[in-house]
Amino acid sequence: MRVKILGSSAGGGFPQWNCNCRNCAGLRAGTLHARPRSQSSIAVSSDGKRWIVCNASPDILAQIRCTPELQPTQLRGSGIAAVVLTDGQIDHAAGLLLLREGERLPLYTTELVRSDLTEGFPILGLLGHFCGVDWHCIAIDGRSFRVDGVVGVELEALPLVSKPAPFSPRRDAPQPGDNIGLTIRDQDSRRSLFYAPGLAEIGEKVRGEMAGADCLLVDGTFWTDDEMIRQGVGRKRASEIGHLPQTGPGGMIERLREFPSARRVLIHINNTNPILDEDSEERLLLEREGIEVAFDGMELVL
Ligand code: MLT
Ligand code: MN
Ligand code: ZN
Repeated sequence: MRVKILGSSAGGGFPQWNCNCRNCAGLRAGTLHARPRSQSSIAVSSDGKRWIVCNASPDILAQIRCTPELQPTQLRGSGIAAVVLTDGQIDHAAGLLLLREGERLPLYTTELVRSDLTEGFPILGLLGHFCGVDWHCIAIDGRSFRVDGVVGVELEALPLVSKPAPFSPRRDAPQPGDNIGLTIRDQDSRRSLFYAPGLAEIGEKVRGEMAGADCLLVDGTFWTDDEMIRQGVGRKRASEIGHLPQTGPGGMIERLREFPSARRVLIHINNTNPILDEDSEERLLLEREGIEVAFDGMELVL
């Protein structure tokens, strides 16, 4: 199974259009040893021909432009067999609008995400005026599912503690199904990826799921809980918006030590995060822990 990282950044991308933080300014000036990054999305395939795109970012057109596997092989078409969403946040769903020129779009989400994309951010109705969407419900009871037209890949959703988007009526009272992690398994090799770009808490169930995965591709949004406050770019803590920071007691670095035999990779990295600077102490610390930082174009093979 091949997993292509289409976009490794959190919402806003890196550099973010309106941001002049140390990282964004340094990247623009060419003084920071870092790569630009587009917004959070991955593509998965076992035959290299038909791909499941997990999360459709606002950067999806540029991402397709640099991914030959997703480009048309006939007069009109695409290597994208379907889109699967882990949540209904803008950085994961707005890209659906950019696929409107295509055929009817097979879309897999939970019932709650469908409801947010019908009401607060009504893009499913909008798309009805263009390509139309064939919606498939992702169950959150542990049942696995397959995507029509994609052979050899099995998925399973696990409800996570994180946050639905600000336009969701459940923003302050999240329910199971607002955010999911996906276990994506190659049916031949039985090797699996656990993908959770928004993850605020690792409870016992999530821990069990992570323990069974060969590769963990998880929330790398913030280094510290108060990162945006400390840098003067925002008022919210990581924990308030549904992300577990890397540092601090019970932080991601500490938790990932529980899975020493898995390949461990951070994704959905915010532009303020010091790990983006490849010469930073923070990046060195991650390397010593054996934790990788996803980049656009990175490929994982399972
Ligand atoms: C998040 O991951 O917290 C959201 O995508 C933030 C955003 O709306 O950009
Ligand atoms: Mn996000
Ligand atoms: Zn910035």
